[in-house]
Amino acid sequence: MCKVISFASIKGGVGRTHIAILLARAAAAAGKRVLMGDSDLNNSLSFHFLDDVMIEKTKKLNLAAALGSEENNLCDYVVPTSNPGIDLIASTPYLADMRTISEKRLKRMIPTISGKYDIFIIDCHPTYDNIVLNALHAADYIITPVLMDLFSYNAAAFLAGVLPRDLENSAGNWYILLNGFNRRYEDSKSGRQTDFVKLYQDSGFPLTPKETWFPWTSQIHQLIDYRRKITGEFNVSGAVFCPELYNAVTELAGCFFDETLSIPEAF
Ligand SMILES: Nc1ncnc2c1ncn2[C@@H]1O[C@H](COP(=O)(O)OP(=O)(O)OP(=O)(O)O)[C@@H](O)[C@H]1O
Ligand SMILES: [Mg+2]
Repeated sequence: MCKVISFASIKGGVGRTHIAILLARAAAAAGKRVLMGDSDLNNSLSFHFLDDVMIEKTKKLNLAAALGSEENNLCDYVVPTSNPGIDLIASTPYLADMRTISEKRLKRMIPTISGKYDIFIIDCHPTYDNIVLNALHAADYIITPVLMDLFSYNAAAFLAGVLPRDLENSAGNWYILLNGFNRRYEDSKSGRQTDFVKLYQDSGFPLTPKETWFPWTSQIHQLIDYRRKITGEFNVSGAVFCPELYNAVTELAGCFFDETLSIPEAF
C-alpha cells in the first residue's frame, strides 16, 4: 500500500513545502520509494527538485495532465528528480483549469501508483478549492503546519470546521503540526509559545506528537535552498548539524510506516 500524505492549509507560508521536502528526503534515505505531487500553482516543489531540462518535460507531464482523464495512470506523468529515491508529478499553471473536476478524481487514481511507491506526499496551495479537495480526499493523512500566531490558528480552525463536513474519514487522519516550536520555552508558564500550544490543545485540534514539532531555524535554508544534508550527529562532514530539526523530521517520517525506519545519520 502507498500511504498518501497531503500538506494542506488555507494559510500560506506556514512551512508546508519545506516540511514536505524534508519528509520526502528522510523517507527516501530510509529506502522508501517516494513520490511527490506538486499541487501548488506556485510550482515550488517542481522548481526545487527539477533542472531546466526536466522542467521543460513537465509542460506535458504534470498533475493537470494526469488528472485530465480518470483512465490515466499516474505513473505515466511522473518525472525523476535530482534526489535519488524521489519522483515527482509536477505542477503547472494549467491546474487552474481543473477547478471543476470531481473532487475525488485523484483518490480514484491512487491505485495506479500502488506497489510502485511507498509514500505519496502532496504539497497543496494555500486555499480550499477542488484541487485541494482532490489532495484531501486522496490522503491517508492530512498535515496542517501551523505557526504560533492567530492567523495560523484561524486557518486551523477553518479546517476543523469544514473537514468533518467535506470528508468521509476526516476524523483520525487530520493532524496539526506545530512549526517554530522552541524547546527552550516548553516549560514556561506563560509567553506566546505556551499560550498558543495551550490554545491549539484546548481547541481539541489533533496535534502530531511533540517529537515531530519543528523548531524555527535559519539552518532550514541551508537544507532546502542550498540542498545540503542534515545530520543530528556532530561528526558528519559537510552536513548541517541541527539535532532538533533532524529529530523532528525523522520522528515525523516514522509516523507513516508500521516498521521502525532506518534513517542514515545524514540525508
Ligand atoms: N521551521 C522553520 N524554520 C525556519 N524557517 C522556516 C521554517 N519553516 C518554514 N520556514 C520559512 O518560512 C517560509 C515559508 O515556508 P514554506 O514555503 O515551506 O511554507 P508554505 O506553507 O509552503 O508557503 P506557501 O504558501 O508559499 O506555499 C520560507 O521562507 C521558509 O524558509
Ligand atoms: Mg508552499
